[in-house]
Amino acid sequence: MAEITRRAPGRGRFITFEGGEGTGKSTQIKKLAERLEVEKVHVVVTREPGGSPGAEVIRHLVLSGMGKLLGPDAETLLFAAARDDHVRTVIAPALARGSWVLCDRFYDSTRAYQVKLGQVAPAVLNAMQRVTIGDLTPDMTIILDLPVEVGLKRAAARRSGEPPDRFESEDLKFHQALRDAYREIAASEPQRCALIDANADVNTVAARVWAALHGRSFVNSTMATTA
Ligand code: TYD
Repeated sequence: MAEITRRAPGRGRFITFEGGEGTGKSTQIKKLAERLEVEKVHVVVTREPGGSPGAEVIRHLVLSGMGKLLGPDAETLLFAAARDDHVRTVIAPALARGSWVLCDRFYDSTRAYQVKLGQVAPAVLNAMQRVTIGDLTPDMTIILDLPVEVGLKRAAARRSGEPPDRFESEDLKFHQALRDAYREIAASEPQRCALIDANADVNTVAARVWAALHGRSFVNSTMATTA
């Protein structure tokens, strides 16, 4: 698989954010979107599972744990159905308009959660990928890396008393394996993926994300750590 998508002229950049629970993806996406807007880049922020009305219905289903009852392959197909709708109705049109798309999770989540940690065969993922995304691979994937205990503590604080969802309620071993899975993905595709140490304050991590984009010549200007 090509590690960096060849872009049609005028097509926006497609940047995905990945990582375990509580790694700060949504905060960092917000920081990056704000920074890009200063640079006059039109940005669309979205997420998976979900991001389009149809996919949000499926999000509700999988995060409630209902998908788990159907078994690993069927649960994975639910993520795929959501992705298909999201790509078709939100991501592809936005990129075609020249917007940049910042997406909180994409197919690396399926690779990490369902394939590397679950019981789904890589062939299922590959078939699913061909159908749902074709050659619309991310131009760049930011993988936020954090010790598991720190991430789970953050996720629990964010929930403020609400019960954990389908994946948050997995045990510590699962979350450690998840971190390892993401590190493996980053190592296997170093051109597309940037592994970012997320164990720092928000602005420091934002500066690291910006530096990763800068390193790939996606942006020109530098960003102060206090920005
Ligand atoms: P969400 O509340 O968005 O979690 P987070 O804030 O950690 O991103 O829930 C999404 C959950 O769905 C998350 O635990 C990861 C999981 N997931 C998969 O297992 N496979 C997938 O393909 C996707 C997109 C998400």
